Amino acid sequence: MNTSREIPWSVLRERAIAATALSYAPYSKVTVGAAGITSNGEIVQGSNVENASYGLTLCAECSLVSDLARIGGGRLIAVSIVAGDHQPITPCGRCRQLLFEHGGNELLIDAGDSKDPLLLSALLPGAFGPEDLGIRKNS
Ligand code: THU
Repeated sequence: MNTSREIPWSVLRERAIAATALSYAPYSKVTVGAAGITSNGEIVQGSNVENASYGLTLCAECSLVSDLARIGGGRLIAVSIVAGDHQPITPCGRCRQLLFEHGGNELLIDAGDSKDPLLLSALLPGAFGPEDLGIRKNS
């Protein structure tokens, strides 16, 4: 399952919307939920978790990656991220890198109804990733 047509976008969107209800966002009041599916068809979710120190806020995608680890890992093939208005948002810069680690260039990101999903490679061109570590080592 790795083409856009086979991705259960409506399920991912519903799960992401449901995750916004679990968000802890007393400071920004921007609730965010994320849901992703792995190549094995497993669904993972996450919500943003803010902190009084502001800078330590965990984005919904960060929680989703933790959920992925919790289920034993896997390769993400599609992710939907929505805000409290239930409309898709694109991931922040840090989260693009987090998602790249677990989905790579081919990861599909929900761009909303009537729009084709975005490839992560379009959102994070020329990403630095795990393969670079081997190539760039001194010895
Ligand atoms: N937020 C996310 O959860 N994911 C993003 O990709 C963008 C921003 C959250 C962080 C913070 O709790 C709130 O949205 C406002 O920035």
